[in-house]
Amino acid sequence: MPQALMSGGALDVVIREAERSEWAAISEVTVRAFNEPTGPDPHAGSYREVAGGIEWLMRLGYDRHAIVAVFGGSVIGGVLWERWPPCADAVALFRLGVLPEYRNRGIGALLVGAVERAAQVHGYTAVVLKAMLEKGLPEYYARLGFTVFETRAGAGGHEITMLKRLVP
Ligand SMILES: CC(C)(COP(=O)(O)OP(=O)(O)OC[C@H]1O[C@@H](n2cnc3c(N)ncnc32)[C@H](O)[C@@H]1OP(=O)(O)O)[C@@H](O)C(=O)NCCC(=O)NCCS
Repeated sequence: MPQALMSGGALDVVIREAERSEWAAISEVTVRAFNEPTGPDPHAGSYREVAGGIEWLMRLGYDRHAIVAVFGGSVIGGVLWERWPPCADAVALFRLGVLPEYRNRGIGALLVGAVERAAQVHGYTAVVLKAMLEKGLPEYYARLGFTVFETRAGAGGHEITMLKRLVP
């Protein structure tokens, strides 16, 4: 079993690298996290995740990593990261998702922090991500220390690329 990267938050959540056998569970969690209806929850997902999508991405490999949040033996959140193709010393963070019923307890922040630490362990010096302006997500990531690197307007809204330099 992979070593816990960290644990904490209001719940006794363990954050660690995902085991291969958990890829399907991360897929399910991500579908639920991202595909909730946009209605009253302003934090609903910015991306339409498909069933099995994460599992498929992980199977493809390409030095891709998955980190999970586990509570009571179940996966309740996850995030992926991989080398960011345009820049040899940066990683891309993507598909950060926490099940709706476990939100606002710092689990998203723990997952982002775990990616930063894992990236540093692998010798990277920055984390990059893309977030939709209209979903309020740049505001969320700004609170975690990310700054705006680029803004692109598209049909679905404004896609913001954000960057965080990792301090050794
Ligand atoms: C974004 C997400 C991972 C945050 O998970 P979380 O565990 O609730 O996050 P944290 O507990 O670390 O942070 C909660 C805080 O962030 C705020 N927040 C969460 N999502 C936000 C958003 N989209 N815009 C602005 N603020 C947001 C909450 O209001 C809360 O604020 P508070 O501390 O002042 O009460 C979760 O809402 C989620 O899975 N969303 C759907 C998938 C998604 O959009 N992922 C990001 C793709 S780039």
